[in-house]
Amino acid sequence: MSRIPKETVDQIIQQADIVEVVGDFVTLKKKGQNMWAPCPFHHEKSPSFSVSPAKGIYKCFGCGKAGNSVQFIMDVEGIGYVEALRYLARKYAIEVEEEISPELNQAQSARESQYIISDFARNYFQDILLNHEQGKSIGLPYFKDRGLSLPTIQKFELGYSLESWDGLTAKALAQGFTLEFLESTGLTIVKEDKKYDRFRARVMFPIHNLSGRVVGFGGRTLKSNDKTPKYVNSPESEIYHKSDVLYGLYQAKQAIRSQDLCYLVEGYLDVLSLSQGGIDNVVASSGTSLTEGQIKLIGRYTKNITVLYDGDPAGIKASLRGIDLILEGGLNVMVVLFPDKEDPDSYIRKVGDTAFKTYIDANAKDFISFKTELLSQEAEHNPVKKAEAIREIITSIAKIPDSIKRAVFLQRCSVIFGIEEQVLLTEYNKLMKQERQKPVAPAFPDSAPAPGLTPQPEDKVAADDAIMLHHEREIMRLLLNYSAHQLPEGLPFVPYLLEQLEDVEFKIPIHIRFLNLFQEEVKQAPLIPPDFFINYPDSEIRQEAIQLLTDKFELSENWETHQIFVPRETDMLQFAADTAVLRLKWRNIQQMIRDNMETMQQVKDPAAIDQHLVIHGTLKKYEKEIAVQLGVVVAR
Ligand code: CTP
Ligand code: MN
Repeated sequence: MSRIPKETVDQIIQQADIVEVVGDFVTLKKKGQNMWAPCPFHHEKSPSFSVSPAKGIYKCFGCGKAGNSVQFIMDVEGIGYVEALRYLARKYAIEVEEEISPELNQAQSARESQYIISDFARNYFQDILLNHEQGKSIGLPYFKDRGLSLPTIQKFELGYSLESWDGLTAKALAQGFTLEFLESTGLTIVKEDKKYDRFRARVMFPIHNLSGRVVGFGGRTLKSNDKTPKYVNSPESEIYHKSDVLYGLYQAKQAIRSQDLCYLVEGYLDVLSLSQGGIDNVVASSGTSLTEGQIKLIGRYTKNITVLYDGDPAGIKASLRGIDLILEGGLNVMVVLFPDKEDPDSYIRKVGDTAFKTYIDANAKDFISFKTELLSQEAEHNPVKKAEAIREIITSIAKIPDSIKRAVFLQRCSVIFGIEEQVLLTEYNKLMKQERQKPVAPAFPDSAPAPGLTPQPEDKVAADDAIMLHHEREIMRLLLNYSAHQLPEGLPFVPYLLEQLEDVEFKIPIHIRFLNLFQEEVKQAPLIPPDFFINYPDSEIRQEAIQLLTDKFELSENWETHQIFVPRETDMLQFAADTAVLRLKWRNIQQMIRDNMETMQQVKDPAAIDQHLVIHGTLKKYEKEIAVQLGVVVAR
């Protein structure tokens, strides 16, 4: 893999205005000094997601996500740091000259090579389709026949693979690509001494990841009733994890976000036809049955999924499975089934765009109505079947993580079946009890907690430790917020505070890292620019810095809204620093006293006990000194 040069990274970070970057994904409204919107990372009605143009950061007061422009793109697109930088570079038309860096590990370089070769293959298949004799006489007419226009073909980068054993392989090798990556991406199949193209005489559908890079292909044969399989697909590879990819999501994501709805279909052709018909918010699970990862992916853009499946038994079965999975993911689901023998692609081509839209609007059912109707024909006069149907539906309801939503659906179910809610509730509780007895991992674990604060349930962090952590954190907060500040006598703040900390021991690893970094930096210059740590290359440092910087920002927000007058912290910075240091020292002493007592109780030798008693006395003396100082400081 390659690396983006430092100067380019700096340029990207400088140009990537947080308001512009975030504004591509949510509608921001100005209120006070900041801009606000409903959070793109969790579901909410009233906006608790804020952007501070002055600080160049965002923070959600609901779910706690925070960061700079690069972090936002990483979070919202689910991509890595370098990919996010590339995204921003594209947005701001900044040319990225890649540097080859030898120290980058092999796994990353394999991934990059796979991306590059997939990109090459996409171009190759496209070129064959549009310019080569076979493409023009076989591939293009097939697509035209299926009603696809040139813009659609280009939007989805469709292609054609030659009727030849090694069209792609030979060309790639001639261009200097190695067999290793042709094989690991599955483009070339190597068997003993033979090597040949996986895709031959097929129309090609490239599969993109969220940042638009090609990760794999599907290839459809043009021959009907042949021995060859209808679709051949790329195998899993380092860059292609089928359970975390949705066909069409790259092209659909903006529309999904803006319409707050995602249509989910089964096939490539369904996506293409709907998109061409002006329904852009459509993706396909294509081939694999729907996965938790795929639902999570959609959940980044909308909480609403409408499943558009065939009306045949297989389609219904897939819908039922999909419904439960979507509900478990905390998303809302509607279902549309098409008339017999129709799928979304055939139906839109049969009735036209407008009638198609009318059809899905009129036929979208929530899962209770869907299941009820499905089961009701038999259930109506058969109490056993009816009980079964109800249990079926309650099972789905039980999967919904949100308790209010569960209650609403139980109520609806009671109305539809004419059964008292209490009866349903009893049934529901019975089911839940059974569920609880199965050991299950949480389907969708919450996002990772802030680094440095990872709660460790086993090792119960004692209350004292929590207080210590709090004091350490307060010192970090002051260092970061006032890194470019000078005390009234012109004394730079960071060196001043660092000096106070000389004999203080820090416990939290990330805090120790920060202290070391501060010590290094002040050697260069005593005043450190405020964005130094926000844009720091190491993501752990960056994340923690942003959390610490926004702690304060959170507080002042409250002050503003409650119109409470508080002296500005800058007016009493030295006081704040002294207090924080003393408090931490006090805690440290407390712990030392406790530790010393503990060891004292274990030693038997009277001389050793005496020694510990002396230590105890000294510590107690320090404790008193600090208490006095703290008292003085606090009273001032
Ligand atoms: N699929 C697959 N392998 C197969 C059949 C299907 O991977 N042998 C996947 C493809 O992603 C396909 C989807 O399942 O797009 C749905 O299958 P199907 O409805 O049979 O294909 P369509 O894409 O609708 O193609 P067509 O309309 O040409 O039949
Ligand atoms: Mn089809």
